[in-house]
Amino acid sequence: MVREPSQRDRRQPAGMAAPATTARANVNLALVKYWGKRDGALNLPATGSISLTLDGLSVEASVAFGGGEADRVEIDGAEAAGDEVLRVVRFLDLVRAETGRRERALVATRSTVPRGVGLASSAAAFAALALAASRAAGLALDPPALSALARRGSGSAARSIFGGFVEWRRGERADGRDSVAEPLAPPEFWDVRVVVAVTSSAPKAVSSRAGMERAATSPFYPAWVAGAEADLARARAAIRARDLEALGLLAEHSALKMHAVGMAARPPLLYWRGATVDCLDRVWKLRAEGTPAFATIDAGPQVKVLCSPDDASRVAEALRAVPGVERVLTCAPGGGAEVMA
Ligand code: PMV
Repeated sequence: MVREPSQRDRRQPAGMAAPATTARANVNLALVKYWGKRDGALNLPATGSISLTLDGLSVEASVAFGGGEADRVEIDGAEAAGDEVLRVVRFLDLVRAETGRRERALVATRSTVPRGVGLASSAAAFAALALAASRAAGLALDPPALSALARRGSGSAARSIFGGFVEWRRGERADGRDSVAEPLAPPEFWDVRVVVAVTSSAPKAVSSRAGMERAATSPFYPAWVAGAEADLARARAAIRARDLEALGLLAEHSALKMHAVGMAARPPLLYWRGATVDCLDRVWKLRAEGTPAFATIDAGPQVKVLCSPDDASRVAEALRAVPGVERVLTCAPGGGAEVMA
């Protein structure tokens, strides 16, 4: 699944004066979920979260400043338009504001995340973009500052700056400077697998931003926020101890609580489909049969299962047999964002 960048991917965007800077970042999977904001404009989370960065599912972003009347954005070789461009332009504005630069930029992103697999490539995209755009603009940001910048593009992107197990701290400051991610353990610390069961490749109906706004109307939302610190402490301890059962049960609990909040929101929010429930059921059966496997679900219908490398093929086979599962992929822990050229 890991794809080496080709010469073509590394090419300098056409028509730009300055050389392009290219960076790559991997997606991450939240084990303790981020679901709710204390500040929507700055993407400050209501709670902390903990994730695992995944190998081989990455986005490469090239940025060149200088030349052109307007920012241009190319996604997987095609000129982007509308909201996607707006989101990138707003992000570039942050970098321009930081450096006092005014030049427009050409941004080209290329993703190895299969489209519609429900592994949000926006986290990888904004982490890669934060690194590439800041370097291209002449800024040498340290990892916490990069994480804070990536967060502005997409909250979960704050975590994709780092590899392995990562915690994004809620932070207390109103300006968000302390709401940054930090590494808990590198990818090689603990070799686990995440098996992803894709139950639908349709685009999601409710974005995570809209979903979080809706979640705040739920009577269960205060309980969700109140339980976060205890979940984070348990997850940290489980990672430190490499305790798969403790971490897996906790991750499953965090995901089910997040979705329960949505179900009780007004209007209700349910990302699941029939096959999502059937996958959950299959994971619980696997466990009853003696295979330690634990499910988590994000803002979509896919089921992601944490297990040991030895059990990954058994888990993948079991999920592939669930009616409605379109494809299954398996990921190992991955590294942090890096500059390519
Ligand atoms: O970073 P966003 O705005 O795409 O939100 C991510 C939300 C979840 O994926 C559901 C949870 C998480 O912590 O990644």
